[in-house]
Amino acid sequence: MILAFESSCDESAIAVFDPASGVACEWVHSQISLHSEHGGVVPDIATREHLRHFGPLLRLAIKDPSWRGVSQVAVTRGPGLAACLAVGAAAAKSVARALRLPVVGVNHLRAHAWSPFIPLHAESPGAFQERLRELLPHLGLIVSGGNTILFSISEAGALEQLSSTRDDAAGEALDKGAKLLGIGYPGGPEIERRAAGGRPDAFDFPRGIGRPGDLDFSFSGLKTSLRYRVQAMPEPQVRASLADLCASYQAAVVDALSSKTAAALERRPYRSVGLSGGVANNRALCGAIEARARNAGARFMAALPRHTGDNAAMIGFAAWIDAADSARFSGGALQVDPGAYL
Ligand code: KG4
Repeated sequence: MILAFESSCDESAIAVFDPASGVACEWVHSQISLHSEHGGVVPDIATREHLRHFGPLLRLAIKDPSWRGVSQVAVTRGPGLAACLAVGAAAAKSVARALRLPVVGVNHLRAHAWSPFIPLHAESPGAFQERLRELLPHLGLIVSGGNTILFSISEAGALEQLSSTRDDAAGEALDKGAKLLGIGYPGGPEIERRAAGGRPDAFDFPRGIGRPGDLDFSFSGLKTSLRYRVQAMPEPQVRASLADLCASYQAAVVDALSSKTAAALERRPYRSVGLSGGVANNRALCGAIEARARNAGARFMAALPRHTGDNAAMIGFAAWIDAADSARFSGGALQVDPGAYL
């Protein structure tokens, strides 16, 4: 059983993953409300909050029956905010040393990449490897506040990054768009809520890199286009058009993500398509990626809502599934790596 820690950004999280039955227990302390008044994550506040909350989270974990079965510790080693990663790593190393257990560092993006497979494992832990093989090769899309990545998992279980964003991540584009519209943080859910009452074709926003065959994403042009559009409209008109602006802006983000996913699906056959990261909570995006997967005859797999944002369950799961890589990332002495790649 693996005791996992996550602290790469604004969530402090602990979980125990049991390979024989699935996620045994998990706790997340989110700092979103503290950062929302600043319109984005403030690294110093995030670090302070991690320092304050790992103690209480550990006290909860110690009371859980699964604690007695823990035989390994795993912790996010990167990518993420350096000081935040360091707090999680220090907590994990302290517990590992006290309990005389090995500790491995897990790449946060690989954990997001594997997170849609957590429910599959929970359905039949004993038959997971066979069922996994039936779903490979897999095409995955990670969409979070800091990353937008298309990747594949080969029949042999090897992850390969196919493309990423050249500028802003999809979640960042939604957060910055919401800021321009003056509607709160985090922007993704705020835009989705308002988009429900608007027309997605009311405004014409750019869809990023349009070159055929190019799988990279770009969202900075979209954001600039929204800025110019809003600057050209009198304030009362912006307020009156908020639902249409949100629906059109969200449609541009969803189109950009789903058309690149479709282009990747045209390149070669995949047996499953995964969606993970915070923006995977978006219903329009889920529907669009599911439709692309269906058209390509692939099974659609989204991470569970509680595992889309940052969480420790996916760190424990990735440490188990990706054991060789976790060990490689960890090396001898565990060190954090804020700029790690997939
Ligand atoms: O995975 P996550 O916690 O990101 C990082 O830590 O990097 O996801 C946060 C991102 C934010 O940009 C937020 O606006 C977006 O996910 N998000 C959504 C929704 N819920 C969260 N975007 C669109 N629709 C949602 N329902």
